[in-house]
Amino acid sequence: MKKVAVIPGDGIGPEVIAEGLRALAWFRAQRGVELELWQLDLGAERYLRDGTTFPNEVRDEILSSCSAVLLGALGDARVPGFEHARDILFGMRMGFDLYANVRPVRALSDGLVPLRGRGARDVDFVVFRENTEGVYAGIGGQLRRGTPDEIAINEDINTRKGVERIIRAAFAYARRTGQRRVLMSDKSNAMRHAHELWQRVFHEVRVEYPEIEARHLYIDALCMELVRDPSQFQVIVTNNLFGDIVTDLGAALQGGMGVAASVSLNPDHPERVKLFEPVHGSAPSLVGLGQANPVATLLCIALLLQELGFESAASELEVAIRGSIEARETTPDLGGSLSTRAVTDAVLGRLTPA
Ligand SMILES: NC(=O)c1ccc[n+]([C@@H]2O[C@H](COP(=O)([O-])OP(=O)(O)OC[C@H]3O[C@@H](n4cnc5c(N)ncnc54)[C@H](O)[C@@H]3O)[C@@H](O)[C@H]2O)c1
Repeated sequence: MKKVAVIPGDGIGPEVIAEGLRALAWFRAQRGVELELWQLDLGAERYLRDGTTFPNEVRDEILSSCSAVLLGALGDARVPGFEHARDILFGMRMGFDLYANVRPVRALSDGLVPLRGRGARDVDFVVFRENTEGVYAGIGGQLRRGTPDEIAINEDINTRKGVERIIRAAFAYARRTGQRRVLMSDKSNAMRHAHELWQRVFHEVRVEYPEIEARHLYIDALCMELVRDPSQFQVIVTNNLFGDIVTDLGAALQGGMGVAASVSLNPDHPERVKLFEPVHGSAPSLVGLGQANPVATLLCIALLLQELGFESAASELEVAIRGSIEARETTPDLGGSLSTRAVTDAVLGRLTPA
């Protein structure tokens, strides 16, 4: 039986993960979706209690025995240095070499698209964000800290292997799913060393996919075009930093942080554990109010079901989520008045019991 590690995490993480687990329980009871859940007590509370962040034995066990990790959110004002979050998140993204952060940006209803004259049909693309390199690789340092002469450096790491595999993953995904367009975004006009590598590799790899239209935009132009006309994009591939920014812009186009889901995976090793996370953070101002939108997590559950081979359950869940949003059965961030739990009830109520 496939095993899923569950890390509710901080802030609203436990609130939304509880709803995701209710959806999984429904599919287990009604559709025979067999998954073994492994609840992990990791996050700010644990760190503050006994200093534990991401133990080696937990890391090893996840890698050797789990098909998926479901993570809520990490981030707590009591841990301003972000130590626990860095160890847990980077421990999986980088430690497991989950180099592709895949972010479907799909609006589920016309009413969620904030652009005038645009609807759900205009917002339907996937971002492949490089997840292990770039300025987030953690190489750098500070010199003369706290003095007027201080220097702070984060190095931007771009390896041939890292650039090639994420670009290739984007093209391979496009071919597999019948998409016709891949766009690579960089800033090669200003970052002439690192991003010239992206340019060169992009031009080499695109030759292997002659049926796919390969296009390039500088990241500033891409941000502008995403707002002007998002319908022109199908697959976007970019580096870690630009991907981080563009996927939040994507979240806004699809209706906000409450409806954005992601998976981090290693396309070269499909059997390796995959990390499913809502794109949002721990949203401290919402904690305990029962107003956190569970849809991002429910969409993560749909992604998880799909990736673990339960495709029909995944599409059933997505159709139910879409129906609930169309019917305005939503939390306040989407203009509704339902609680976190009531939104899940509404979604599950749209599914047909066995
Ligand atoms: N992957 C992660 O775990 C992750 C990602 C981003 C931020 N963070 C951390 O989360 C904390 C808060 O960061 P932030 O405020 O910049 O980002 P955030 O995503 O937590 O919140 C941004 C905005 O979106 C709203 N929002 C987020 N999730 C929502 C939901 N499910 N339903 C309704 N509204 C929602 C919040 O209320 C807030 O207005 C910080 O500690 C940050 O470091 C963690």
